[in-house]
Amino acid sequence: MNIVVIGTSYVGLVQGACLARLGHSVLCVDIDESKVARLREGVVPFFEPDLEEIVRSEMQAGRLSFTSKITEAVMIQPAVIFLAVGTPQSENGAADLQYLKAAARDIVAAVQSTALVVIKSTVPPGTSKKVKEWLGSDFEVASNPEFLREGKAVSDFFNPDRIVIGTTSDRAEQLLRDVYSGIFTQVFVMSPESAELTKYAANTFLASRLSLINEVANIADHVGANIKDVEAALGADPRIGNQFLRAGAGFGGSCFPKDVLALDHAAREHGYAPKLIAPIMEVNLGQTELFLQKIYNRFDNIEGRKFSVWGLAFNAGTDDVRESPALRIIEKLLERGAELCVFDPYAMASGRLVLGDKVTFAPSMMDALIGTDALLVLTEWEEFLYAPWNTIAELLSERVIFDGKNFLPHKDLRDVGFEVFGIGLN
Ligand code: UGA
Repeated sequence: MNIVVIGTSYVGLVQGACLARLGHSVLCVDIDESKVARLREGVVPFFEPDLEEIVRSEMQAGRLSFTSKITEAVMIQPAVIFLAVGTPQSENGAADLQYLKAAARDIVAAVQSTALVVIKSTVPPGTSKKVKEWLGSDFEVASNPEFLREGKAVSDFFNPDRIVIGTTSDRAEQLLRDVYSGIFTQVFVMSPESAELTKYAANTFLASRLSLINEVANIADHVGANIKDVEAALGADPRIGNQFLRAGAGFGGSCFPKDVLALDHAAREHGYAPKLIAPIMEVNLGQTELFLQKIYNRFDNIEGRKFSVWGLAFNAGTDDVRESPALRIIEKLLERGAELCVFDPYAMASGRLVLGDKVTFAPSMMDALIGTDALLVLTEWEEFLYAPWNTIAELLSERVIFDGKNFLPHKDLRDVGFEVFGIGLN
């Protein structure tokens, strides 16, 4: 099938490249010419495991190409056009649909109306209707939200838990079933509004679990319980489940914070004021503060104090630092006059774009430790787990570790003589 994907960021590029791997002919469109030029050379502008290999081999096989000109789309006469442009958070918390609107305008000008337009971007319920208005009555519009995790997006694409198709049209449903015919999973067909709400609800549910387990961890801190033991026993109940149950110094990323606020906003716009949604984000921001408080309690004076930081990315497996708790923590420590030496195996370039010269970027995790008092570990990169702790004990002037992800081997670290701080670990 001939397919166009508009937008080549985390969602669009994975969608385009993986659809090509399924055997479709895919043209990816992005208005950013320099990005398109790099993609044409096989360079993926962000880190996502396996993606670059797929992009290169699919380009070589002639199934994947890139352009900055939507007008080229007309030449391949696409059966389906996926809209995968950004829907960032606007000032009032609502999803900003300007890029979607611009893409719709471009489609009308360039593509024949037999193409099915599918919204892949995360959008508020009701957006499919708006896009149809923007496109005009000739075009059919469907919703097909994505559930990919950054860092695992390629494997999530080929092994999804489900595919959600939001349409009331048999033709649109069949086209989307054909698009994904190489993937074996449950398919849920529903109205576009339900599909759009499913996406927001999924992220809000997961975010609420995290804020709830973080609240339990904070209580564990006060009552002397150990959140790791609680998580294990809680997760053994199949009604609760053991995923997304790891407490920490707050969650981040370009999706949860934005989508939780956008759902709250969308509900209010439609006349319903949700009671449970806004507190998810309050708890999340408070979580980072509580973690910082542990640092302030241990070191009365932060001014001039030197800390090494391992991890900038919001999650392991990605170089994305958007809404990363690590950056929130770093900014607060800098405000208090700390000096920071940071390292992340993949997110140094993206971290540098945000932090500039406010911190020192170390060439390796061990270099980051030199001349510092204590270590903060803020992303769950596997290599941090297997660090040479005996050597590290000699490098830090005080043997203190703050684990913002509760994932280090705390007992082993204590045996080596470290003081270790996590969240709810007693
Ligand atoms: C999330 C959803 O998981 C995807 O299904 C969805 O498609 C995506 O948003 C999106 O809307 O595009 P993502 O933000 O990439 O994916 O990453 P997650 O793995 O969900 O992690 C989000 C945050 O939660 C990270 O900061 C992570 O460290 C944190 N987390 C996760 C925890 O603190 N504890 C856990 O147990 C799990």
